[in-house]
Amino acid sequence: MTKIPFTRRQASAEHAEAIRNAVRTTETMPCGARIATQADTDALTALLIDPQISDPIYSLPKPITRDAVSAFIDRHLQERARGEGLLMFLDDGEKTAAGYCDIQFWPEWAACELGGAVRTNRQGAHTGFDGAVAAFGWLFDEIGVDLICETAARNNIRTAKLLEHIGFRYLGEIESETPGGGVRASHYWEMTRADRTVARK
Ligand SMILES: CC(C)(COP(=O)(O)OP(=O)(O)OC[C@H]1O[C@@H](n2cnc3c(N)ncnc32)[C@H](O)[C@@H]1OP(=O)(O)O)[C@@H](O)C(=O)NCCC(=O)NCCS
Repeated sequence: MTKIPFTRRQASAEHAEAIRNAVRTTETMPCGARIATQADTDALTALLIDPQISDPIYSLPKPITRDAVSAFIDRHLQERARGEGLLMFLDDGEKTAAGYCDIQFWPEWAACELGGAVRTNRQGAHTGFDGAVAAFGWLFDEIGVDLICETAARNNIRTAKLLEHIGFRYLGEIESETPGGGVRASHYWEMTRADRTVARK
């Protein structure tokens, strides 16, 4: 298992606490996603039970069941209370969630990792790209992180294209730790605040 992020710059105590506070008080993201609650369990389960959605995502519990998704939501509510994690739910009124976003924070390094998915019938139209650009901007500008790291399964071409178009630096292969205690081979990228400034020029 590879420890992420690779880049670890100690944040000041004030900076780390500001990130924790921003996470604790988050209600929504720019794409319209909001904090997932137990009321979202069925819609999130309906999204994640599709293996095309959940198979590529190492951080999800497997197998996907209603109970596992309920526990996943609960764990993230506890992480939010500590300022260390967010599970965001995108609702468009359908029975199946339109998308979701899972963000893990390391306030001590002013860093985070974002994962997520959009519903199959919303894919392939740059919805994921546009949502990712907005989310990364929000993480730097509103939450205050200085580093975003990303992982993707080795055959996840869409995510690789998306990250490299946005300006992430590819740093090689790693072994990601799954919630069940196993490992998943992943590609790994990072974007620092300085990388982001260069990518926007
Ligand atoms: C990854 C995901 C969020 C991307 O969202 P999306 O809206 O489908 O992606 P986009 O339309 O923005 O496309 C991203 C890139 O992949 C390309 N792409 C789309 N479908 C593709 C396919 N079947 N094969 C190869 N490339 C593909 C797009 O052309 C685009 O590249 P481009 O900018 O060079 O044209 C979405 O596909 C998804 O939810 N997948 C399942 C879960 C997952 O893999 N999550 C990420 C793991 S953290």
